[in-house]
Amino acid sequence: MHIRDPKLIADLAALSVALSPGASLADLTYLGIGGSSDLLRIAKHESIPPLLAMLEGNHIPYRFLGGGSNLLVDDGELPWVILQLAKPDPEVVLDRAFAHVDAAADLGRTVTYCAKHDLGGMEGLIGVPGTVGGALRMNAGAYGMQIGSYVREVKLYRAAERKIEILKGHQISFEYRHTSFAPDDMMLAVTLELPSKPYKEILQGIRICNEKRRSSQPLGQKSAGCIFKNPPGASAGRMIDELGLKGLSIGDAKVSDRHANFFVNAGHATANDMLSLIADVRSRVEKAFGVQLENEVVVWNA
Ligand code: EPU
Repeated sequence: MHIRDPKLIADLAALSVALSPGASLADLTYLGIGGSSDLLRIAKHESIPPLLAMLEGNHIPYRFLGGGSNLLVDDGELPWVILQLAKPDPEVVLDRAFAHVDAAADLGRTVTYCAKHDLGGMEGLIGVPGTVGGALRMNAGAYGMQIGSYVREVKLYRAAERKIEILKGHQISFEYRHTSFAPDDMMLAVTLELPSKPYKEILQGIRICNEKRRSSQPLGQKSAGCIFKNPPGASAGRMIDELGLKGLSIGDAKVSDRHANFFVNAGHATANDMLSLIADVRSRVEKAFGVQLENEVVVWNA
């Protein structure tokens, strides 16, 4: 989807929205898969309501992109413009045990910054790629912790109300890889309350998690992390592994040799390759174990 009307282009600039024509979603996602579309980077949260009103008034469909770490995007010309928050400076502002973090902040950098100021709790998230907003939306977690436990307040754009709102932590439910946010809510900022811990101790926890991750996950390869959620009481990775499916591939989409719930783009995989591999593995697991695996990866079908 392209914005060509000079008046719209001028209106975007007036809203501090930077337009990158024909951006490649393959370059903006960790899987390295996806076609192209205009990318609109938003510098000010307050621009969102008038920006969306403008897009809707001009019948321009849009999708909101976080860090692109858990996303599989279709190939070709995409039928929506892509919205993304610009990275603010600073990404994090600390006030005693509270960290005020912009949704566009890098998750790993946020964990490290808080750690250096003796605020811990998020050690397990250090190797999880993506933005704080993306982690918040899906309640990202690893090694026994999840981000939702620390959320005290969230600033978001509520598409249903067409306005920016603040929700208190207790108004949001955080479950395993699931939150009560509406699908069209846009995360803007979050306040986390973190336990106070000496930096050295946090660093020790971070090292242990990094080591576990390095020994079990294909870190250097293009992937979206785990493709499927774990079913209650079971591990999707273990089931796929037990079926001997490590290394199974369709085109350049491949089940990782290292962790069977990571599917990697081993070259120039297309969205169709990856979707076919997901469907194939899901149906084999269902046949063998009677369990229907649910996607953890978010799919944008054009
Ligand atoms: N296992 C296998 N073969 C495999 C992969 C795993 O036998 O190919 C076994 C492991 O040996 C272990 C069990 O399955 O006994 C669980 O594996 P692991 O500890 O790797 O955890 P997981 O359940 O596969 C979850 C999260 C990861 C997170 C790790 C560590 C999900 C879907 N995945 O993986 O999160 O990093 O625990 O806490 O919840 C992600 O969500 O993208 C992700 C990477």
